[in-house]
Order: sequence, then C-alpha cells, then structure tokens
Amino acid sequence: MQYIFNPIPEQFKIKEKIKQCNYLVNGNLIKWEGDFSPVYSTISSTAEYKPTLLGEIPSLGKDEAIMALDSACSAFDKGKGLWPTMKVVDRIIAMENFVEEMKQKRDIVVKLLMWEIGKNHTDSQKEFDRTVDYIYDTIEAYKKIDRDSAKFQKHSGINAHIRRGPLGVVLCLGPYNYPLNETFCLLIPALIMGNTVIFKPAKHGVLLISPLMEAFKKHFPPGVVNILFGRGRVLATPIMESGKINVLALIGHSSSANALQESHPKKNRLRLVLGLEAKNPAIILPDADLNLVINECINGALSFNGQRCTALKIIYVHEDVKDEFLKKFSTAVDQLKYGNPWEENVKLTPLPEPNKPDYIRSLISDAKDKGAEIINENGGIYCENFIYPAILYPVTKDMKVYKEEQFGPVIPVISFNDIDKPLNDMAESNYGQQVSVFGKEAKKLGPLIDTLVNLVCRVNINSSCQRGPDIYPFTGRKDSAFSTLSVHDALRSFSIRTFVASKDNDENNVIIKDLLGSKNSNFISTDYIL
Ligand code: G3H
Repeated sequence: MQYIFNPIPEQFKIKEKIKQCNYLVNGNLIKWEGDFSPVYSTISSTAEYKPTLLGEIPSLGKDEAIMALDSACSAFDKGKGLWPTMKVVDRIIAMENFVEEMKQKRDIVVKLLMWEIGKNHTDSQKEFDRTVDYIYDTIEAYKKIDRDSAKFQKHSGINAHIRRGPLGVVLCLGPYNYPLNETFCLLIPALIMGNTVIFKPAKHGVLLISPLMEAFKKHFPPGVVNILFGRGRVLATPIMESGKINVLALIGHSSSANALQESHPKKNRLRLVLGLEAKNPAIILPDADLNLVINECINGALSFNGQRCTALKIIYVHEDVKDEFLKKFSTAVDQLKYGNPWEENVKLTPLPEPNKPDYIRSLISDAKDKGAEIINENGGIYCENFIYPAILYPVTKDMKVYKEEQFGPVIPVISFNDIDKPLNDMAESNYGQQVSVFGKEAKKLGPLIDTLVNLVCRVNINSSCQRGPDIYPFTGRKDSAFSTLSVHDALRSFSIRTFVASKDNDENNVIIKDLLGSKNSNFISTDYIL
C-alpha cells in the first residue's frame, strides 16, 4: 500500500517542538542538564514518509528516581505530612483548582493525543473530557464516602469513628493507549485519598503531560506529586527496590507488573492496583441480529485500531451463521476509512508503535502458515505506519493470534457448534476481563450468563465490551487485573479503613466531644461536606 499524505490543517500542525526540560520533584520544576530522548510521532508531516519529531524528554536516571521517592516519602512524612493529615474538604479544593486549570489546556492536550498516539480527533476530545468528568465524579464520590463516615458508631461499649485513610506512597504507571485517561484514573483517586505519588508518563503519550506540569506544581503541596521522565525499568526498578512503595498502580502488561512486584523486598506490604492484558471474546449465537453484531464487532474490535484492553480480540461465531457473518463483517471492515487523526470520519489511524505493523503482519503470516485465510479484501495491506485490519478464519489454538493479545488491527474468528467450545477456551485462557454475547433467546442466554459471570467480570449482552460508564466496576480475573477501578472502588483501592476507638465512659466522651468541638483533629470530625 502506498503511504497516503493529505495536507495537515493549520490548527493541527505542530509548529514548535516541545522540549520538556524539567521534572517535578519536591514541588520544584527542576531543570534537567543531562541527556534527552527524542519523541517521534509515526505520523509524517511530509508527502515522503518520515516520522515527525515532536520534541524531547529528559532521560532521567536512578538518582532522580530516588530523589522523587525521597520527596514523596517526605511529603507523606510517616503519616504526619500536610497532605495526608489535611481536612478532606481542603484536599477536594486542591483537586478542584487543579482540574479548573487542566481544562484550559484541552486544545493542546487533544492535539498531542492525536500526534503522539494517533487517536482520532473525536476520540482524543472524548479522552480529555472523560478524564475531566472522572475527576469531578471522583470528588463527588469522595464527598459521599466522607459524609457516610461523618458519624460515631457504638458496639459492645466501644465508640468508633471509622474513616478511610491513605496508604502512603504510590508509584503510578499508565498505558500508551489512554495516556491521559487511564493514568489519571489511577493518579486522581490515589491523590485525593491523601497518598503521595510518583508518576511516570507512558512511553507514547508523554509530551501531553507537559502542559499540565505547572498545574501539578501549583495546586498540590511540595512532594505530593512527583513526575519523572525516562525509561520505566531505569526509574521504577530502584524505586521498588527501596521497599518504600506502598501501592503499585499500573495499567500495562502483567510481565511489567510481575517484574516490579518482584523488585519489592517486602511484597506483603505492597498493594497492587493493576489493569492488565485481556482478550475479550465475542460469542455470536445462531439467533443473533447480525446487523447489530456487525456494528458492535466493528466498534468493539477496531475502535482505536483495536488498541484497547477492552477490545474484542477473538470472535466465536456459530456455524449456522458463520458464512453470513464473515461476508457482512468483511464488507463492513473494508469500508472503514483510514487517515490521519484529524481527517473527517476517520476510523483507522496510524499506529504509534513503529514496530506494530510488522508485529501484526507476523501474526497474520503465522496464522496463514497454519491454515487460516484473510477473509476481507483489504486485510493486511500496509504501509510504514499502518496496517489494514485483517479478519482471519479459521483460527486454531496453535496460532500466535489465538494466544497473544494482539492489541492492534487483526481479528481472529473461530466457528463453533457446541457452546462448550468458547466456554472451555475461556476457562483455559490466561485472560478474564469481559465477554460480549450476541443472541435473543432467554432459554439459551440465561445458563450461559450464569457461567460467563464466573469466567470474566462483565458480560455484555448484544453490545461490545467497554470500560465505561466509569461509575461501574472495571476489573478482571487471572492475568487481566488486580483490584477494582470504578469511580467509587478506586477510592477504596487507594485507601484503608482506619479508626479511632474509645471505651464509652464519661471521661472519654468528654474528650471526644472536646475534640469534635475544638476541631483540633482533622480526622475526628462529623462535619458534613455538601
Ligand atoms: O484500554 C483499556 C481501557 O480501559 C478501555 O476503556 O472501553 O472505555 O475504551 P474503553
């Protein structure tokens, strides 16, 4: 396929390179005097294909990692720090001020999302707006949690004032496919619950953090948010080896999560909040509405070129409808428009990882060698930064595309006669996030749902898999996740129940009343945040 170049509209051009010349530690934006790494987009700015240089980031090393760790530890200050002891209402005010300033950076962050990760304009805008909404929803959810704990309980002669408190220092690492949203879905609840954080942006989608650096510095006390740039292994390993990290919050691959967890000398002290790989299946029953199936499978398998952890990554179709499904699905896939992220109605966009087209091609050729065919006409055609989605059928268990999370535009299809086939495959697989089931008959769907809910954590009826609405629990079994992330559950994941207890006698009750009235404690409070 010939690389297609359309002129870039003025408002989307990168006019100046972004040099991220500092990092945030201890409330200071520290100027970096060492080496820098270039940040390239796989999108070309010229008719002859050439990756575009967007800017550069500091290549920080172990010393800076340890500085950031020390800064986060000092800000927590063994539980005495300003932030972990602050009144809930004041942490909320800091967060509200931060999000107000963040909103002013929408245009530049959206533009960088398009250039850095190739996400189309509509979805880039959605990612930004969804993140802002998530912050406001988190604030509301925290107010509710706080209101629910603005009381004393009495059991067996003991009065108790129970709240949720921070865990300590959090290391936060996000993914490239949602470098703003998914990272902030970790960072924001971790912060608001009173933890201090070290945060390293994803490899792709890193410059879009630059416009937000000042706001992080301005709205949080020194050391509460520390932002590092550089390679994950170089920075995260010494931080973990220190044993001072209380929570590892990571959206990425289980291999990274396992390696980092292994580096921690006291694993029993480490809480894990992990969103990992998945291979969500679609199961198409014979009575499914195929037009609906096609729409949902297009969105499910190919939104953002399949680079979503919730993407449909394997399709099981009943033999009775296989031929019709493959025909209609191929036609629909081949109609999807390819182009740069700012082009109108574009569905398929350049892949941000330079080696991705080759990886997808290797999956296709392995499958073909083992007996699968590319079903759609455009499937597999490629250029420097793109590969057209290929529908592969029949896929068998010995193929790489069956086993690996492709995280890109290739769609393996398997047919079945017996529903035990997809169920057994799911039970055997390493993944356990979600499933989509397409069908109508309650008699068939009912027992199937009862099994599927025990294999994954969300069963979608006649719709593709997705994380949202963010108010619902987002989690998975096996290698797909650890801990639950909804707006409410994330606040729980980044905190622990901690309480003050006193025997119910006159002396103690006078002290408690005094504590409540004098406001000497920020923890003991029955104030009601509206
Ligand atoms: O990459 C995984 C994301 O959490 C998926 O979220 O279903 O909203 O695209 P989404």
